[in-house]
Amino acid sequence: MARKVTKANKVETIGVLTSGGDAPGMNAAIRAIVRTALANGLKVKGIRRGYSGLLDEDIFDMDAKSVSDIIQRGGTALYTARCPEFMTAEGQDKGAYVCKKYGIDSIIVIGGDGSFNGARKLYQRGINTIGVPATIDLDIACTEYTIGFDTAVNTAMEAIDKVRDTSTSHERCSIIEVMGRHAGYIALWCGIANGAESILLPELYDNDEEAIIKNIIERKRVGKTHHIIINAEGVGDSNGMAKRIEAATGVETRATIIGHIQRGGSPTAKDRVYASAMGAKAVELLCEGKSNRVVAYKHGEFVDYDIMEALAMKKMPDEFLVSMSKKLSR
Ligand code: ADP
Ligand code: F6P
Repeated sequence: MARKVTKANKVETIGVLTSGGDAPGMNAAIRAIVRTALANGLKVKGIRRGYSGLLDEDIFDMDAKSVSDIIQRGGTALYTARCPEFMTAEGQDKGAYVCKKYGIDSIIVIGGDGSFNGARKLYQRGINTIGVPATIDLDIACTEYTIGFDTAVNTAMEAIDKVRDTSTSHERCSIIEVMGRHAGYIALWCGIANGAESILLPELYDNDEEAIIKNIIERKRVGKTHHIIINAEGVGDSNGMAKRIEAATGVETRATIIGHIQRGGSPTAKDRVYASAMGAKAVELLCEGKSNRVVAYKHGEFVDYDIMEALAMKKMPDEFLVSMSKKLSR
């Protein structure tokens, strides 16, 4: 239910920042926030480099033109940063003070769970706040979609297809490591999309390297001439694993760590459209008098949750996708 709009939570000027790791589609969200706010008669101030820019007062007025020609670009036009100072009460007090100094009554934070924690601290200091989930890792529990995941998976998938060509030609085993920090969503999706023989997810991996080795030997016996293993960053040690697998199986094995290439690049249509919807929704929530909320995508709809409630949620890779992927990799 919409909160009653009082003088205290009235919205006149929205600040917007991107924080944590950048993600393709952040620009579409910024553009939607600016243009939806302007359409509602509000002012918008851009804050560069996340909470660092807030503390440094790197703040500028935004108009419709400031967000021209960015929807198709990867990264974030507002730059991003990780800001240790904002983890302290003094930093948070200063952040709220700077908001008030610039007439910013509301802030939209585009980022991950860490950034939402920061937003909550501003809310506690009298600033209206809304979080918009953006991370290639898809590791925000309250939402089935995060800005950047779709592009990152597609980028990684294309890279893995290329590795597969050379791996097949040389009849090798390839271990390809994808990002995701502590989460295995990119690995799971790439594992399925690239038809991998094994997918290692930090949430489920039992460190049973013997099982992987046995699998390779058995498949070699039935005529498989290459073997693709998608390893999540959260499991790691791809180079060590490659050496051990080669020694145990006799199959030449190479490790490829895809790295930051999967965080850049022009966003997919899905990332552009969903990020636009989430950015617009964030402004609408503020206009309804809501605050301390996170925008989410759940069961086919754009919804919102209390930040604390959202941060307390847990999620795991989809059980059906995991079990299905094992059957498909025969
Ligand atoms: P993400 O938002 O992608 O999860 P981080 O965890 O690196 O990325 O957080 C981004 C930034 O958010 C941090 O550098 C810090 O400035 C701020 N932040 C993170 N956790 C907190 C916290 N508990 N309190 C205040 N600010 C935080
Ligand atoms: O959160 C996005 C992410 O790319 C993770 O997948 C990865 O663990 C981390 O950021 C890398 O961070 P950095 O760019 O600071 O090395």
